Amino acid sequence: MTYQRLCASDSSTQDAGEAFAAVLRPGDVVLLSGRLGAGKTTFVKGVARALGVIERVTSPTFIMVRQHDAHNDRGITTLHHADVYRVDHLGDVLDLDLGELVEEAGVAIVEWGDLAESVFGREVLTLAFDVDDDEGRRISAAGSIDAERASALEAWAS
Ligand SMILES: Nc1ncnc2c1ncn2[C@@H]1O[C@H](COP(=O)(O)OP(=O)(O)O)[C@@H](O)[C@H]1O
Ligand SMILES: [Mg+2]
Repeated sequence: MTYQRLCASDSSTQDAGEAFAAVLRPGDVVLLSGRLGAGKTTFVKGVARALGVIERVTSPTFIMVRQHDAHNDRGITTLHHADVYRVDHLGDVLDLDLGELVEEAGVAIVEWGDLAESVFGREVLTLAFDVDDDEGRRISAAGSIDAERASALEAWAS
């Protein structure tokens, strides 16, 4: 089963992120893959909006990870937003200790996380971002999907 969502514009990529928040549970790690400009950061802005993050979400490319306080009724109090594009060595990703950072009440979303999937050492959700010929984006979800998650992803997919 694949779960896909098509996004015709920047705002529909944000909407996809906003809707994806309903799939998230405290403790989740979500890896985003897709070329530069595919819409990963745009998507995280939508997730942040749905989780009640007040700060502005921008690309963490140079600082690698940002923590945002989240205010929602889903038990998710922190959004960890990372970008491991510039990481040279997998050891540097290990040093970020994202698995540990995501204590019970946090979720981590990692841009370019596919480059470092092996270091997470836990089950993850993956979202692949593809750019269509007409510049729309297609987002495909896979990974650790139990029955509850499957029905949430079905509702998310369009
Ligand atoms: N569905 C879409 N259709 C067209 N442009 C989009 C779409 N989603 C995002 N964009 C645009 O693509 C550009 C790059 O997005 P960004 O989220 O920074 O990509 P990434 O984080 O993957 O490098 C932004 O200008 C954004 O507005
Ligand atoms: Mg980005």
